[in-house]
Amino acid sequence: MKQLACNFLFVNIILLIVSCSNNNHAATNSPAINKKGITKINWGNTDGKDVFLYTLTNAKGDELKISNYGGTINAWSMPDRKGNKSSVIIGLDSLKNYLQNPPYFGALIGRYGNRIGGAKFSLDGKEYHLAANNGKNSLHGGLKGFDKVVWDASIINDSTPALILNYTSKDGEEGYPGNLKVAVKYSLSDDDELIIEYNAETDKATPVNLTNHSYFNLTGDVGNTILDHILMIKASFYTPVDSTLIPTGEIKSVTGTPFDFTKPKRTGSDINNVKGGYDHNFVLNKKDSSLQIVATLSDSLSGRKMEVFTTEPGLQFYTGNFLDGKFGVTGKPLKFRTALCLETQHFPDSPNKPKFPSTILKPGEKYHTVTKYKISLL
Ligand code: GLA
Repeated sequence: MKQLACNFLFVNIILLIVSCSNNNHAATNSPAINKKGITKINWGNTDGKDVFLYTLTNAKGDELKISNYGGTINAWSMPDRKGNKSSVIIGLDSLKNYLQNPPYFGALIGRYGNRIGGAKFSLDGKEYHLAANNGKNSLHGGLKGFDKVVWDASIINDSTPALILNYTSKDGEEGYPGNLKVAVKYSLSDDDELIIEYNAETDKATPVNLTNHSYFNLTGDVGNTILDHILMIKASFYTPVDSTLIPTGEIKSVTGTPFDFTKPKRTGSDINNVKGGYDHNFVLNKKDSSLQIVATLSDSLSGRKMEVFTTEPGLQFYTGNFLDGKFGVTGKPLKFRTALCLETQHFPDSPNKPKFPSTILKPGEKYHTVTKYKISLL
């Protein structure tokens, strides 16, 4: 009996040691998953270049995933009100899916964000022709814009983890003049701020309008539409468009129109009074190019709120009107209006609209803009 008890004790001690060492194993693994900093994994290759997926993790363990293919934000995950973690940015599962030309999910857009009418513009007396990749217009930099190139990446692993992406767009690329050296810095703060800093320099005058094309769904579930998200945009004016989504050149008051988001409003409340849904540039109420809050978006289902800050004069509000279920996110099809974009930018077609703020970057000048998205709980 004594021997039996002794054996029993011995077996239990062994079990305890095994279970402790297993726990230790788990314990050393789990902080490693959530450890502040940056990790990278191989994501394949294209154009003869290696593609990686980088994960930036902040002190709370919240994560931002970015690929150097197209400077694409693949996910931005943090807990909702109930503590369940999910991504508020739409991303695809593999590089292979991004190579199927999705509609710019999370991508870095350039050399010119949004449309240039008739796919042409004149600068210093010369006419430049761009690829017409959207009807007769040029959209988001052309056939192979900055969203479809492999960027050189470098990691900054200090108090705020950051990824710097570099790309040189050659003189004549996609029809644009000048060698344009671009550096974009993505960082994730401990306060759940995604900060994007865009820098560029050129050796010939050229239009430049860089942005990020993240699609947001604050519920973290693309099974929900974004029509119940509450949006406020600090814009008393917007730029009306023609049937091909090129601004007419007018700057119109939002008062009394479906475009009035000066007070928080459901994105869905007036959407059926806008032909095709929202896909418009808002003229932000800003007097200078300092970094200011320009929009807020909230969702009562998840309890998440997002604030948008920018140095830019415009904001493209797009309600996913062209989403048709062709692409999916973790098995769920991305249907009509299940995500929205808030793209900070200069106004579409500015190179052909002398009254809009200029987008021309000249040699010797430095292009520098900053946009910040901040998530918190309501
Ligand atoms: C932008 C445009 C939209 C659409 C999307 C991508 O937001 O304004 O018209 O082209 O990109 O589908």
